[in-house]
Amino acid sequence: MWSTQGISKILGVRIPLIQAPMAGPVTTPELIAAVANAGGLGSLGAGYMNPNDMRNTISAIRQLTDKPFAVNLFVPENHSASVEQLKTMQTILTNVCQELKIEIDVPRAPFLPAFDEQIEIIIEEKIPICSFTFGVPSQTSIAKLKKQNIILIGTATCLEEAKLLENSGMDIIVAQGSEAGGHRGTFARPYDEGLIGLMALVPQLVDHIQLPIVAAGGIMDTRGIRAAFALGAAGVQMGTAFLACPESGVSAIFQKILLHNDKTTLTNAYSGKYVRALRNKFIENMKPYAAQILNYPIQNNMTIPLRKEAIKKENLDFIAMWSGQAAYLSQAISAAELIKKWDEELQK
Ligand SMILES: Cc1cc2nc3c(=O)[nH]c(=O)nc-3n(C[C@H](O)[C@H](O)[C@H](O)COP(=O)(O)O)c2cc1C
Repeated sequence: MWSTQGISKILGVRIPLIQAPMAGPVTTPELIAAVANAGGLGSLGAGYMNPNDMRNTISAIRQLTDKPFAVNLFVPENHSASVEQLKTMQTILTNVCQELKIEIDVPRAPFLPAFDEQIEIIIEEKIPICSFTFGVPSQTSIAKLKKQNIILIGTATCLEEAKLLENSGMDIIVAQGSEAGGHRGTFARPYDEGLIGLMALVPQLVDHIQLPIVAAGGIMDTRGIRAAFALGAAGVQMGTAFLACPESGVSAIFQKILLHNDKTTLTNAYSGKYVRALRNKFIENMKPYAAQILNYPIQNNMTIPLRKEAIKKENLDFIAMWSGQAAYLSQAISAAELIKKWDEELQK
């Protein structure tokens, strides 16, 4: 059985399963709608989207489903880089990526779309659920969203962050274990102090936080789902499990190696913020330059051309492959089939 204490009622969905928001190409309208139509909560990773892209993608999702879905945003953080630091990283990336034969440009501000404008789109489009990572949004943003009765979900990687999110007015907290693919959501501590395994993290949050806790990190099938509920979670958020689905927007070559790869690592070389990804040559070759990595999201913008070129050339040495630790359990079947399978297994 799916947990009956779950978050389904709050979110207006059949089952307490959230398809993780995954900024970039992953969370296509097709993937979000497939999860929503199968009874879970699809989420659009809109962290890097400008208002127009958000509007168009939301409209495309609504062509495919009339079920609720969430939109996820990145809480902004301070960042800066001197001209000298930018030039140094430009030289480093040019050297490390020589074989891609691309020019590395120095990116210009603004490095991310305006958060306040993204919030306005959520309100205008009457999105029922908004989730966040990388911090606690301002009280002004929270008040605006709450006025529209939008359900708010925050991401915590330790108890301290969960308390900050609870006090800010969030409705649900995602506990992101260290197994999780993608960026670490850690914001109140150095990233390594937020590397807590899901088995240790979930019960601590369940015991000390009054809000429903959703477990995220390394959950790939009903064994993980059952374990999360046994720890007291009110729901699960799964990202890597959906990467190999035909509806996901990641490159075919990444999907292929995901199925047979158990080598993830943490790196900040792609974006300036630590992320769990499949190991590759770029990550290894950037290790000597740890001290020169620029603040997130400046480093992120500087590596965009190399990531795009790597996908074009199908060069796994450079493709950014965000993935959780349990990637080897991935299945290349549709999201609807995956959820049907989990439904059936949980009936037993
Ligand atoms: C490719 C990828 C991109 C991600 N992007 C986001 C994002 O934009 N926003 C967010 O809150 N979490 C993001 N995450 C993290 C997920 O919310 C979640 O913590 C993670 O997928 C759970 O671990 P799992 O991948 O092992 O299921 C991303 C994860 C992956 C794998």
